[in-house]
Amino acid sequence: MSERKMLSFFRICLVLAIISAVTSQTVRNITATLTKVPVEGLMNFTELVQKYGYEVEEHDVITSDGYILKLFNIPGDKTRPVLLLPGIFGTADDYVIRGNTSLAIILAASGYDVWAINVRGTRYTRKHMTLNPDDDFAFWDYSIHEFGYYDLSANIDYVLNATGQSKVNIVGFSQGTTMTLILGATRPEYNEKVNVFIALAPVCHLQNTRGPIASLITFGNVIDKAVMPFDLYEISGYSSLTKGIMNMLCTQLPISYELCMGAVLAPLIGTKSDEMDPDFFPIIMAHFPSGTSWKNLVHFAQIGSRRSFSNYDYGTTKNLYKYKAFTPPNYDLRKVTFDTILVSGKNDRISTLKDMELLKQNLVNVKDHMILEPDYFNHLDHLWGRNSYAISYPYVLETLKRYNSH
Ligand SMILES: *[C@@H]1O[C@H](CO)[C@@H](O)[C@H](O)[C@H]1NC(C)=O
Ligand SMILES: *[C@@H]1O[C@H](CO)[C@@H](O)[C@H](O)[C@H]1NC(C)=O
Ligand SMILES: *[C@@H]1O[C@H](CO)[C@@H](O)[C@H](O)[C@H]1NC(C)=O
Ligand SMILES: *[C@@H]1O[C@H](CO)[C@@H](O)[C@H](O)[C@H]1NC(C)=O
Repeated sequence: MSERKMLSFFRICLVLAIISAVTSQTVRNITATLTKVPVEGLMNFTELVQKYGYEVEEHDVITSDGYILKLFNIPGDKTRPVLLLPGIFGTADDYVIRGNTSLAIILAASGYDVWAINVRGTRYTRKHMTLNPDDDFAFWDYSIHEFGYYDLSANIDYVLNATGQSKVNIVGFSQGTTMTLILGATRPEYNEKVNVFIALAPVCHLQNTRGPIASLITFGNVIDKAVMPFDLYEISGYSSLTKGIMNMLCTQLPISYELCMGAVLAPLIGTKSDEMDPDFFPIIMAHFPSGTSWKNLVHFAQIGSRRSFSNYDYGTTKNLYKYKAFTPPNYDLRKVTFDTILVSGKNDRISTLKDMELLKQNLVNVKDHMILEPDYFNHLDHLWGRNSYAISYPYVLETLKRYNSH
């Protein structure tokens, strides 16, 4: 093994060590008491939005397979609803923790009716009509497929009904873009309900990722088999032991920022850009990660290693039963017909410019591809960059304005 490979292998081990010890006890309260988390770190979406001067309403959306999802609304002009879709391990919080320079607050300030969604299995959505997330494995039997097919469709219908509109605007980040493409491909009738789809750091094809993520994709199958006996299903839940340990490691040591941002996070997302300053980092760590399923991670790794944007691979026998085919079918991107705007950073190791070229070959309605100016702009800067309000969001606002001038 070359030194570089060794290094990325160790990083993988570190990441796995951090995400592997999972429990659903509320260790979080204890860590929060023992440590000095900034006050914004302990506030939920509603409290944060109120702090920044806006009203907010909490809604419950029930999916057709029984999940109860919290949906937040910052009321604005009902004729211009915008849905905000979080990335992996994320929640609605991710769109407000930058305060008045966050996308949700900027959209609210511009008069949009802002709806920030949460997919199943996060701190706001560990809830089901019949299943208990602490006892029932079935609760965690989902991936990105279900986020698109069930969660996003239910949220869109809810917002359309609540606003009396026939179309919504969607802004998605990373996994939020993957679920939107899956919805358009699997339930084409929803294409009619999307006015415009703005995709920040789009994730669809994952065959040109760089750094440790590429290794994780390569070894995804092996890792999945290796951890199978451990019954992993919830990963890095908000109240989990993992999250508690991560919070301590990443916020309490003199070298926390260098360790978590510099040595682990930055190599995963694209090199450090200084857009995420040490002062702000503990607030990120207090809100993120907020849980997903093991199956979801495996599905993403499969999309990368199979080199195709395909349904979940259950193995030959179960594939035959589920899909009537030995291998999982690809999502048909030709069925996705709403207007799509791609927004990319040049220093993004997950959503790479090469994979954007593939996406543009396969997706029929890409109306624009904005490649942001700075060379350093990485994956997470789209959400949390100190200067994103000046670098990226003016383009988002301009695009929304163009599509909402009735
Ligand atoms: C966590 O702390 C909050 C307030 O600090 C309290 O309301 C809640 O009951 C605590 N939860 C647990 C499980 O201890
Ligand atoms: C957010 O916090 C407020 C105040 O503590 C509480 O009333 C509300 O239920 C919380 N909302 C969610 C979704 O947790
Ligand atoms: C955010 O608020 C601060 C202080 O309240 C203010 O100085 C700054 O100009 C605001 N920034 C934006 C982008 O509105
Ligand atoms: C649609 O909205 C109305 C009120 O605006 C509400 O009474 C009704 O229950 C909603 N229907 C659904 C399916 O959510």
